[in-house]
Amino acid sequence: MIRKFLLLLLISNSCFAQELALVPKPQHLRLLGNGEKKVAFDSKDLFSDLDGLQAFFNNKSVVIYSLGNPGAIEIRKSDKLKKEAYDLKILPDLPIQIEASDASGALYALQTLFQLSATENAKTIPHLEISDEPKFAWRGMHLDCSRHFWDVNFVKKYIDFLAMYKMNTFHWHLTDDQGWRIEIKKYPKLTQIGSKRRGTMAGHYNEQRWDDIPYGGFYTQEQIKEVVAYARKRGITIVPEIEMPGHAVAALAAYPELACTSGPFEVERTWGVFDDVFCPKEYTFEFLENVLVEVMALFPSEYIHIGGDECPKTRWKTCNHCQSLIKQKGLKDEHELQSYFVQRIEKFVNSKGRKIIGWDEILEGGLAPNAAVMSWRGIEGGIAAARQKHNVVMTPESNLYFDRYQGDPRNEPLGFGGNVTIDKVYGFNPVPEALSEAEARYILGVQANLWTEYIATERHAEYMVFPRIAALSEVAWGTAQPQQFAQFQKRLATHMELLDKLKINYSRAMFGLSAKASAFGRDKIVLEFTTAGKNPEIRYTTDGSEPQPDSPLFPGKIVIPGSETVKAARFENGVKIGGTTQQEFTFSKATGHKVELAEAPSKHYPGDGNFTLVNGIFGDKVKFGRDWLGFSGVDLDAVIDLADVRKIQSVTASFLQSKGSWIYFPSQVRILISKDGQEFKQVATVSASDIEKVKGTIDIAFKSQKARFVKVIAKNTIKIPDGNPGAGNAAWLFADEILVN
Ligand code: ACM
Ligand code: ZN
Repeated sequence: MIRKFLLLLLISNSCFAQELALVPKPQHLRLLGNGEKKVAFDSKDLFSDLDGLQAFFNNKSVVIYSLGNPGAIEIRKSDKLKKEAYDLKILPDLPIQIEASDASGALYALQTLFQLSATENAKTIPHLEISDEPKFAWRGMHLDCSRHFWDVNFVKKYIDFLAMYKMNTFHWHLTDDQGWRIEIKKYPKLTQIGSKRRGTMAGHYNEQRWDDIPYGGFYTQEQIKEVVAYARKRGITIVPEIEMPGHAVAALAAYPELACTSGPFEVERTWGVFDDVFCPKEYTFEFLENVLVEVMALFPSEYIHIGGDECPKTRWKTCNHCQSLIKQKGLKDEHELQSYFVQRIEKFVNSKGRKIIGWDEILEGGLAPNAAVMSWRGIEGGIAAARQKHNVVMTPESNLYFDRYQGDPRNEPLGFGGNVTIDKVYGFNPVPEALSEAEARYILGVQANLWTEYIATERHAEYMVFPRIAALSEVAWGTAQPQQFAQFQKRLATHMELLDKLKINYSRAMFGLSAKASAFGRDKIVLEFTTAGKNPEIRYTTDGSEPQPDSPLFPGKIVIPGSETVKAARFENGVKIGGTTQQEFTFSKATGHKVELAEAPSKHYPGDGNFTLVNGIFGDKVKFGRDWLGFSGVDLDAVIDLADVRKIQSVTASFLQSKGSWIYFPSQVRILISKDGQEFKQVATVSASDIEKVKGTIDIAFKSQKARFVKVIAKNTIKIPDGNPGAGNAAWLFADEILVN
């Protein structure tokens, strides 16, 4: 039952001025006149008693459920409202009135009251009427507990985050190559061995460095029961994920007999995708079924997530058992073997009255008859599944992977890479236009995923979740209006006062600035800053100092006159919001001039076109999503036109090496010059070992001479050498800048 709480009520006539910062925005909200109430709750219990509300809704004889001081809030059952819907009325006279057809709807009404009143300090809220209901049935967030382990207290806190935003599904990623995190009584070695690793990657994957600090952790079954009950009271269903057939190395380390080869295996210290996966033998199916029996006993969810993503077929191709199974079952190839694997597991899960959900790779080789699909590599998997009449949860990495950068990577803590800014989250449409109305009904909803390779602390996890979860909740609730992002942003700015009160470490990246340089005239560069929202107050410096409230206002665009560092930040009423964005420029005779390339860069790494090489900007060597031009399997062959014949005596060219990302220094660099652009004379050659020595930034001086055209040819390594990630594939060549002096 809901008890311990306090409600203060004051009727006043002062004018209501403040923006209502409800997130997700309700479907319908009507302010009534200018009256208002002062409301405070002293207990969170009110928002965590779905069980109590459920008892009320189950009891047909009770008409009104009164909360707190007699009659302060009344909840009525309604037959008119849809599942999870509620009506909330705050009128001049008590009680505050809630109508709902089920306990979830009532709980959401209370969550709305919570956001209106905040905690502890009483807050004045207006008289209003709200009619509200969610658009999507699946409103989820995922948490990877394998790459980094999150203790029970944090998992509960994470569940509170979801509840605050009226989300209803927590996808608990419990097993992966880097750690098995759930106690299974029948297989104790899963946690004795599989939950521990001897070290972890340090820095970014592309740096290929490790620490040797033992790392581990797991949840006991008692802890899991506690978390499941905690979530249920807050209206959250937990969907557990047990990964198969790939991402299984932690399990193989504990029980090598589950693999195609004899091992031995060790729990991975490295991020990525591994060739050693579950072998589809009888022992493995018996093992997985026994595991799933224990999992299903702990988690009452309709769906059990069985992974299914990123399963290399390398071992299966050379495994006698796998190959004879393919023949015996009349399967076409290893993809159909994966499909056989998943279908067999599905049959078992269905036999226990549950359904499976898996990542979109489970479409390959044929979808299991009743499986739901989580579309992560884009929305295409979701479209295909919906067309086959399978339920779909949309969670594309392009818009809903919260491990990606939410602001300019140079200002952000180290992350996976890529960009998922809050406007991308807010602008995501879960129902692809390609689907017919009938097909669209298979879209259950949306979810964002938090993979934790690069997230090791609770503060960092909060930072990656907030405020993007607010945007997600509005997409899931169905009230996001991407064309009115600025209004959402304004509401969010007010909502952040609540996050401050709750001591949540949220990101202010959405107020940050992103520098954009472009060519201007023959040899000039123009700098702009882009940011979310309209007409922000941006102040800047060019002397290396931090921007202050009295620094000059940034006029929209400035011409960069020569080498300098511009620092800019956003202010509101004299207070800096967001971080400082810094852009360094290094000018040379080549800056801003015309560049011709014999081979075009890859469309995946187009930078700002050919201009990238002469924009005065050196790229970041770890967070290299921007400022670089990438060439796959081809040479860089660039001719810079200095516009006039000039005296020159040196060339600087800069390249990246990141073997983990298949990027290699050039195997040779040649510099040629010409007066007419026809006849070129070679002035320097740099060998692979010299490029290695200067870590890719080569500075070549030659006898001073006159030229108008400078040609730089950087030879691509072409094929990734054996023993390296991606061996045998085309190597990448990345260049960021060419200076001529
Ligand atoms: C995934 O991100 N591999 C589902
Ligand atoms: Zn095998």
